[in-house]
Amino acid sequence: MTAAPTGTETAVIGVDGPRPHGPRHVAIIMDGNGRWAKARGLPRAIGHREGVQALKRTIQAAPDYGIECLTVFGFSTENWSRPEDEVSDLMGLVRTYLASDLTRLEKAGVRLRILGRRGGLPSDIVAIIDKAEAQTAHNTRFLLQVAFNYGGRADLVDAARRHSEKLLAGETIEPISEQTFEMGLATAGSPPLDLIVRTSGEKRLSNFLLWEAAYAELVFQEVLWPDYGSKALGEALAAFGERDRRYGGREIVSARAAG
Ligand code: FPP
Repeated sequence: MTAAPTGTETAVIGVDGPRPHGPRHVAIIMDGNGRWAKARGLPRAIGHREGVQALKRTIQAAPDYGIECLTVFGFSTENWSRPEDEVSDLMGLVRTYLASDLTRLEKAGVRLRILGRRGGLPSDIVAIIDKAEAQTAHNTRFLLQVAFNYGGRADLVDAARRHSEKLLAGETIEPISEQTFEMGLATAGSPPLDLIVRTSGEKRLSNFLLWEAAYAELVFQEVLWPDYGSKALGEALAAFGERDRRYGGREIVSARAAG
């Protein structure tokens, strides 16, 4: 079973032939860098470095599968509890990744958005990500969202706080509904989330995109993140293609139609 990149039209090959309902928005929990390094007797830092290479391969492959938006978990609000040198390695990877790839991403039509709290991040990283967002803001071909210092619960709290602060300031706001509330989330304006992938065999959401996950399909893959790329992404999409999505109703609804 394979997924076929087709350019503009997405055809995911499932058990009963091509299904033109590939996901628009895929999120990935990139797990297993540490185990990948340990299995080779290498430092964890090398696992994370190879993880960046896997991320590059995946970003390159995604549009060919018809994916419009990719959201990846780069650093969670809980990751601060890791040893200082590992936190520092992960921060360093953002610096080097954006220094080496920002122009290429911009030229490839990618809009970059960083999800998560800016407060608490080193000030040079805040400046780097602000610049990266501004430099790619005009792009519309593909949306890459990197969750960095992000937690799903923190994001929900921040959205609620923003609404209440407006109220306290005497602003007139729309009555709170699912539609108005989600406009306060970090992912506001991105396509509805269709698929969450987690690598390395772990089967948890780990505080990632809690609101957005409501109707997403979940696919868990054994592959460790540094080994990820076009083939593994194709396999995740093939698994997605076999699911029937009903959104609580009885009719099967196409992911594209639902968006
Ligand atoms: C999980 O592996 C991975 C992370 C905590 C970090 C993911 C980050 C990258 C792939 C690099 C991100 C870079 C940019 C530029 C956003 P783990 O360390 O928990 O692995 P383990 O579970 O095997 O120990």
